Amino acid sequence: MTDAMELPVRAPEVEAAAERLAPVLRRTPLQHSERLSELAGAPVWLKREDLQSVRSYKLRGAHLFLDSLSQAAREAGVVAASAGNHAQGVAQACRTLGIQGRIYVPGTTPRQKRERITAIGGDLVELVLIGDTFDDAAEAAADDADRTGATQVPPFDHPVIMAGQGTVALEAAEQLRSEHGRELGTMVVPVGGGGLLGGCGAWLRERSPATRIIGVEPAGAVSMSAAVRAGRPVTLHEMDRFVDGAAVRRVGAAPLRMVQAIAPELVAVDEGAVCTQMLDLYQVEGIIAEPAGALAATAVAAGTIEHLGRAGADAPDPEEETGDIVVVVSGGNNDVSRYNEIVERSLVHEGLKHYFLVTFPQEPGALRRFLDRVLGPNDDIVLFDYIKRNNREEGPALVGLEIGDREDLEPLMARMAASNMEIERVDPENPIYRYLT
Ligand SMILES: Cc1ncc(COP(=O)(O)O)c(C=O)c1O
Repeated sequence: MTDAMELPVRAPEVEAAAERLAPVLRRTPLQHSERLSELAGAPVWLKREDLQSVRSYKLRGAHLFLDSLSQAAREAGVVAASAGNHAQGVAQACRTLGIQGRIYVPGTTPRQKRERITAIGGDLVELVLIGDTFDDAAEAAADDADRTGATQVPPFDHPVIMAGQGTVALEAAEQLRSEHGRELGTMVVPVGGGGLLGGCGAWLRERSPATRIIGVEPAGAVSMSAAVRAGRPVTLHEMDRFVDGAAVRRVGAAPLRMVQAIAPELVAVDEGAVCTQMLDLYQVEGIIAEPAGALAATAVAAGTIEHLGRAGADAPDPEEETGDIVVVVSGGNNDVSRYNEIVERSLVHEGLKHYFLVTFPQEPGALRRFLDRVLGPNDDIVLFDYIKRNNREEGPALVGLEIGDREDLEPLMARMAASNMEIERVDPENPIYRYLT
């Protein structure tokens, strides 16, 4: 454990941040979730940062950072590179504090995101489109800062940013106690670059040391666990970008130092499970969460966290309850155009959607036989595409099937094997599968 004096953020700084931020923040609700409580076997509360202004907790760190600048630095303005929630947080802070900002985004950034940033920032924020990738935008922002003397606003790797984000933990613990008379047993937070986890952990370890802290990463971008293992930030060369916001190639040095000191438990959840959770949050609780916003809830729902809400195997009474669970719903900026992909990835993850290459024998009635003899009463064809469009006589067809229950797969496969058709399941490892899902 690092000497507490060396920590980038201490509890009093988070407390000072909460006071400073109070006039500009919404005190977002702490909402009980019956569904997740049932799954966890202990009371679960959702900290609704999707209802924060700019629809994510990111305003907290960004506003505190800008508010901490000297008069001279305010006059020189700020720059940031981000197409996501950080950009919206910085834009809002610029507007509130009257500081000029330039936000660099790759030219590929969807119009909806660009429009949100300019609408929030108003006259104070200039949006600069540059290059094709996030790295191009980050480089241009750094050049701008060197050239003009503007201050760069880091998304997570800074003690002030972390102190701002840490106010989520303080606020949730206070709400749980004052509004519900309950104690914070476990706090579950999403992890990208580590700013939120670092800040929340800093406050919790000092002020609520018994609270179990759990950081949740997307399985396709486990940069924090990799950094903890290596003892330094490492760059992930391959990454699934689906959980944008939390899909970060390299965590920050300051958040990593906090994580090494507070030693939270780190777990990873599959991107498909995140999709299922986004749909459950939407359909049961009526919450629009973006993928990163649903990460923490996913770990609770999917049973990823061992003995959640219980003392655990090493305790004198393993079944002893350890208090309430707070899950941070960190953001709600989900683009409607992503819902097709979300439904698809969820169905595949649930084992309800499968793909096959089917070569029909060249004889009349083959397709009808497939329908009658191979498909079961609850199996639906949701995709049918001849691979060789110019030769329907011979080439196989790609067939997507949605089944009523994941248990239906085995009998379906048995009927396929018994048919005289050549049917090959498209393995999830097959590159074509990635293309489909
Ligand atoms: C909604 C949301 N959740 C979680 C994260 C990850 O946060 P951090 O980088 O502080 O670990 C982000 C980062 O942008 C985010 O936008």
